Amino acid sequence: MPANARGGAIVERRIPKTGEAIPAIGLGTWQVFDVAGNAAEMAQAKETLKVFIELGGRVIDSSPMYGSSESVTGQLASELGVRAKLFVATKVWTSGKQAGIRQMEDSMKKLRGERLDLMQVHNLQDTDTHLATLRDWKATGRVRYVGVTHYHSGAHADLERFVKRGDIDFIQVNYSLAEPEANRRLLQAATDSRIAVIVNRPFAEGAMFRQVKGKPLPDWAKDIGCASWAQFFLKWILANPAVTCAIPATRNPAHMADNMGAASGPLPDEATRRKMSAYFKAL
Ligand SMILES: NC(=O)c1ccc[n+]([C@@H]2O[C@H](COP(=O)([O-])OP(=O)(O)OC[C@H]3O[C@@H](n4cnc5c(N)ncnc54)[C@H](OP(=O)(O)O)[C@@H]3O)[C@@H](O)[C@H]2O)c1
Repeated sequence: MPANARGGAIVERRIPKTGEAIPAIGLGTWQVFDVAGNAAEMAQAKETLKVFIELGGRVIDSSPMYGSSESVTGQLASELGVRAKLFVATKVWTSGKQAGIRQMEDSMKKLRGERLDLMQVHNLQDTDTHLATLRDWKATGRVRYVGVTHYHSGAHADLERFVKRGDIDFIQVNYSLAEPEANRRLLQAATDSRIAVIVNRPFAEGAMFRQVKGKPLPDWAKDIGCASWAQFFLKWILANPAVTCAIPATRNPAHMADNMGAASGPLPDEATRRKMSAYFKAL
């Protein structure tokens, strides 16, 4: 396990198609980095990004759908001098070939990169059109990896079709103790087709914290290295070997450090994962 700048270890996972290793906890930017024009919130986002990098984080996920998040990410990464360290994932979220090209070029400017690490078709919108463009972009080195995303179990069968077709490198999908459906078929299909899996909504958009509010962690959570509910939720996700990276969203530096803590120490085995699931359901 590689060490971060503060001397701690960080779990990494390999992208199946290339063997490239990336840290298993990343940072989502929906809502939390849409803060252009608000100095206090920009300062929080900057501190969060700083903590993320110090603790060994690299994967950051955005979208043109997320307001100013792409430009805020690009600006803060360049102010902190960390742009080159990041594995930047964003999305295309429009219809039509030319509109897609314009949007992706705009994203590259905002994210301040000559090339992007991962470009994903957001919520499967006009997927075949954008994948055709992205095949060319990959061949000429403008993007390194290509993927498709969704956030709802109703779209898992559609995601599975793209997984089985095999011309993508990543899927991004919702998967958590509250929304475990991806494990029915999709995650196994991704493993079988050597597709990397980014997990969005790891806290069901924060709803899971409301469910456990005022409730203590079970005693046995410390045996799997969980010091918080966030780590309990994230370690359950990371313990599934199909998962490459989970991308919790936060603009709170303390929450960022808490989340990165899930990428060190032991992960639960299958029996413990079942116990975690039963415990969470019973709350
Ligand atoms: N279709 C798609 O492609 C799609 C759809 C949904 C999401 N996504 C991606 O996935 C990312 C994550 O999903 P999400 O934003 O829906 O929600 P999420 O990560 O499941 O939950 C975010 C919420 O959890 C809270 N939180 C984070 N860390 C915490 C901690 N350690 N302790 C307590 N609270 C904590 C945050 O509040 P604080 O800010 O107070 O920490 C925020 O309210 C998105 O940002 C986006 O990048 C993609």
